[in-house]
Amino acid sequence: MYRDFTYAEVLASAERAGWRLDDVLGPDDRLDFTRRFMPEALARTDAAPGLDAAERKLLNQISGHQYLSLFGVIEEFILPFVLDHVRPQLDTDDYRVRALLQFAGEEAKHIQLFRRFQEAYVLGFGTPCQVIGPAEAIAAEVLRHDPLGVALAILHVEWMTQNHYLDSVKDDDGLDPLFKSLLRHHWIEECQHAKIDTLMVEALADSRGDDAILAAAGEYLEIIGFIDGGLRQQAALNVAALELATGRPVADREGLIAQQHQAARWTYLGSGMAHPRFTGTLSAISPRAHALVEAAAAQFN
Ligand SMILES: [Fe+2]
Ligand SMILES: [Fe+2]
Repeated sequence: MYRDFTYAEVLASAERAGWRLDDVLGPDDRLDFTRRFMPEALARTDAAPGLDAAERKLLNQISGHQYLSLFGVIEEFILPFVLDHVRPQLDTDDYRVRALLQFAGEEAKHIQLFRRFQEAYVLGFGTPCQVIGPAEAIAAEVLRHDPLGVALAILHVEWMTQNHYLDSVKDDDGLDPLFKSLLRHHWIEECQHAKIDTLMVEALADSRGDDAILAAAGEYLEIIGFIDGGLRQQAALNVAALELATGRPVADREGLIAQQHQAARWTYLGSGMAHPRFTGTLSAISPRAHALVEAAAAQFN
């Protein structure tokens, strides 16, 4: 198994690393709309076809709004899953129970943080940006899958936030400092979650044979496919928001939607599926499941 930490150690580091909402976005903080919000490695707006510099910056900011909205949606399915996971075993290991409750509390805080950023965004952007949803329906669709498949999707999410943070560090010249701080603070806590998720995945895989683990990896890929469909819809909504903001239609609408969909596929799917810690856990529980996911990941680059 890929285990190099315990619940007690994860709880101790989570308690040291914890932050308050106001540390990231205080009541008087304003986003800087003269800057880009998302790292170029994720938003790929410099390569967006048919746009001038001002439109690329607007699209980058809309991509930032997408990030805030989608993480709101993602955290909505993580929170009930973690609570369901801790409930049946409240009387077992005290550190395990406390680490999972700490994890759940932090995700509830992240939901609030993303919402707070979204409010700041709406205040400054001036044009409405539509998002896919509702979040509860998306969460219900994800959560109807095999718990091991859902736990793999959550492990993927936690590790991919590390790539998002690292991309924002590389892209240090033009990003809004509050967005950079969001990516950094989120990763600081997600880093502990990723370790707890690893322990959850291992616990759920422990009693299963390889065929059952392979089937759960198939369910994880179903969740990926479902999210991918949502990303395609969101890319079209983002282009519509850009057109509304500039007051004119973009030249190559379908080309731009396809290019931005692929950027989102890398940001939310590929960068998690290919993270070495995610693939390490997967290959430790089942080399066949790892091969299945690795083959599917190629389309999300
Ligand atoms: Fe989170
Ligand atoms: Fe998390």
